[in-house]
Amino acid sequence: MSVNRRRFLGAALGAAIPAGVSGAPAGQPRFKADLFTPALLLDLDVFESNVKRMADHYRQAGIGHRPHAKTHKCPEIARRQVSAGALGVCLATVPEAEAMAAAGIRGLLLTSPIVEPRKIDRVVQLNRLGNEVMLAVGHAREVQLLGEAAATSSTTIDVLIDLDIGDRRTGILPGPPALELARQIGTYRFLRLRGLQAYAGHASHVVGFDHRRKVSREAMARAVETKELLARSGFAAVILSGGSTGTYNIDSDIAGVTELQVGSYIFMDVDYRRIGGQSGAVYTDFQPSLSVLTTVVSTSHADRVTVDAGTKALATDVPHRPEARGRPDLVYSRAGDEFGTLSSTAGPLPALGDRLEFIVPHCDPTVNLYDRIYALRGDRVEDVWPILARKENVKDGSR
Ligand SMILES: Cc1ncc(COP(=O)(O)O)c(C=O)c1O
Repeated sequence: MSVNRRRFLGAALGAAIPAGVSGAPAGQPRFKADLFTPALLLDLDVFESNVKRMADHYRQAGIGHRPHAKTHKCPEIARRQVSAGALGVCLATVPEAEAMAAAGIRGLLLTSPIVEPRKIDRVVQLNRLGNEVMLAVGHAREVQLLGEAAATSSTTIDVLIDLDIGDRRTGILPGPPALELARQIGTYRFLRLRGLQAYAGHASHVVGFDHRRKVSREAMARAVETKELLARSGFAAVILSGGSTGTYNIDSDIAGVTELQVGSYIFMDVDYRRIGGQSGAVYTDFQPSLSVLTTVVSTSHADRVTVDAGTKALATDVPHRPEARGRPDLVYSRAGDEFGTLSSTAGPLPALGDRLEFIVPHCDPTVNLYDRIYALRGDRVEDVWPILARKENVKDGSR
């Protein structure tokens, strides 16, 4: 890691991190056993294998990938994804875009609608300073605000039309409404239409590969038809971006799709593992690299013990429980903000002070709970990476 990068990361952590001799930065724990809990861990061997596997898949398929950085909010991870062959990264928020741009990551795509004028100004400013931040827009008013802000600063902004292809969340309806939006974009001198975004969130976690493929193909067909409609109407909208970890090898077979915005594959989580893969009930194309390290802090009852990880340490927005690595018999139950309890279906309960690692139920919101991620090679802390632009850190209303 370069000195400049270290300074940047140090500033982001709120304290200078002097260059270490090797492995963990000086002043940081050197081994997993040194970490205070709860702590967010990344198994580097597994993470690297996930990054490579996805990049290899798209290389062989002859298609691009621009992974979603909302999953990690971590410039170092983005840098590694780009080094492996990604076109850049996607972002969900303006602060994420600013953090990645400040870290020198190029090829940014903001996938969420941005309608607050001050946020729009910030994105225009990023582009004015030479960062490539493309935006997905899904409403006439959004286009108007962006088009006017771009004109005011004479800055050309690349846009994709955000299509609602079935998850009824953001975006304009495919077909004629999207064509109408393309025409409106064409009236703004400083907006450049580059293509379409079509994220099928309702397809990503469908259980069972064949069912998932059906749902995703039906959804993406609407996007491909719209792309063809735009082409027939004289719009050279080249990009068609969509997809997810659950459909990574489904969408890459669809003619017209040019790039995929996969996110969770780098970490994986319990929610994704249970959707099933092509060859089994557990989705194993990518392996869990992310976990939360906890300590058993209370053992007063014969039927349960308590660990120091509750809702402040493990996002529990999905119905699935955290899974203890190496102890499939342990059943985690939420016990408030700070704690979780463990019972066992077989085998002895852990003792006071024992440390356990949990595969997280849902990776994105769990990462958002932490300031840093400990990157481990085996039991050694190889690096410490800051997690930036966390929503919880945003208290001044400007974000
Ligand atoms: C717009 C958009 N694109 C891509 C993704 C990545 O999906 P996944 O983490 O399922 O790969 C998400 C995740 O929620 C998303 O909201």
